[in-house]
Amino acid sequence: MSVETQEYMNGMRPGPLTREIPECMRDKYTVVQAIIDVIMFVIVGIGYVIKATYKTIVGRHKKDLKGAIAVVTGGGGGLGSLIALRLARLGCTVVLWDINKQGLEDTVKLVKGIGGKCYGYVVDLTQREDIYRVAKKVDEEVGKVNLLINNAGVVSGRYLLDTPDHLIQRTFDVNILAHFWTVKAFLPSMIENNDGHIVTIASMAGHVGVAKLVDYCSSKAAACGFDEALRLELETQGIKGVRTSLICPYFIRSTGMFEEVNSRFVPQLNSNDVADRIVLAIRTDEPFALIPGFFRVLLPFKWLVPWPCISELIRGLVPDAVPVPMHAARPTPAAAKTASKPEALDVKHGASAGPMTVLPPARHDRQV
Ligand SMILES: NC(=O)c1ccc[n+]([C@@H]2O[C@H](COP(=O)([O-])OP(=O)(O)OC[C@H]3O[C@@H](n4cnc5c(N)ncnc54)[C@H](O)[C@@H]3O)[C@@H](O)[C@H]2O)c1
Repeated sequence: MSVETQEYMNGMRPGPLTREIPECMRDKYTVVQAIIDVIMFVIVGIGYVIKATYKTIVGRHKKDLKGAIAVVTGGGGGLGSLIALRLARLGCTVVLWDINKQGLEDTVKLVKGIGGKCYGYVVDLTQREDIYRVAKKVDEEVGKVNLLINNAGVVSGRYLLDTPDHLIQRTFDVNILAHFWTVKAFLPSMIENNDGHIVTIASMAGHVGVAKLVDYCSSKAAACGFDEALRLELETQGIKGVRTSLICPYFIRSTGMFEEVNSRFVPQLNSNDVADRIVLAIRTDEPFALIPGFFRVLLPFKWLVPWPCISELIRGLVPDAVPVPMHAARPTPAAAKTASKPEALDVKHGASAGPMTVLPPARHDRQV
């Protein structure tokens, strides 16, 4: 240890900051500065709250998505296909990524059916190199992506000790690691053009733990952290043209992911309503959207009341997230064969296809 450091530690030498403060102010400076900082923060904070309240009352400006190029991962089924239909209606060119070739072809057909511009790419999001390769292909074949919706997700749906390691790995590969690779692939051009939006479809399960969803909840909590840290990182770097939005829905009906969930008190959400809400959040540059919105008021209580209350509440609300064992609900070999039957559509093949979700995407009522 140097003599200087030793003297500083013994209080014989002023520190690097106190050295610059006048002698008479040395004791007072940090307290005065801290008080000024707090007052400034409160004033600025009140300003932001007033602005947000005003925007909520009069309505937020909705940005025009016409001409935007949007990549929707997991766009071959469920929520992804509903978002794709809405974006196409708003004039976006929609690029769908999915491992499920049949679902992808169906959705491309649907989007084109309503007059939209749509491309489908078979991508396995567990494969980083596949993501980078197809991202490059999209850039060359479709153009610069300015809206990225990380929507694909998987769930294992078993008690932790019954979950094979490869399913835990897959949950993290799809639900969070793929977000890193897609963002690394598309963010540079968004920054270069000062125009972009990254949307993370996480879940309420990223804020609240649920039995049988240990891998799912932890991957979604990571997705929430990913969005917040990335947003702060962009703001710290002064990048104003690239936004991020975090979407956290409660359980959704008829997408195929949590078909059988046993949910009390709070009804499962309608998938079309969730898709509408997501598109609204994108158009109004909302940093986060909890669906339904009242969870925003309830969530802070999690840290205020004793744990047994939280445990009772969650176990009462979701007695069983996966009442039917997921492996029992796998499609039959015959159904799986039909699901991967190729069709002559202009789906661009990036990898060999195969259904990845444990349940096949439901053919629910897709509305625009
Ligand atoms: N369904 C719900 O109750 C619910 C609730 C909250 C959040 N979410 C989240 O919303 C998102 C969409 O969920 P959903 O209900 O539409 O699920 P879904 O199972 O219907 O759709 C997921 C899509 O991701 C695709 N996919 C899975 N693994 C893939 C891989 N390795 N590579 C490429 N594509 C892959 C599937 O083929 C499927 O098309 C997910 O991130 C999910 O976690 C769903």
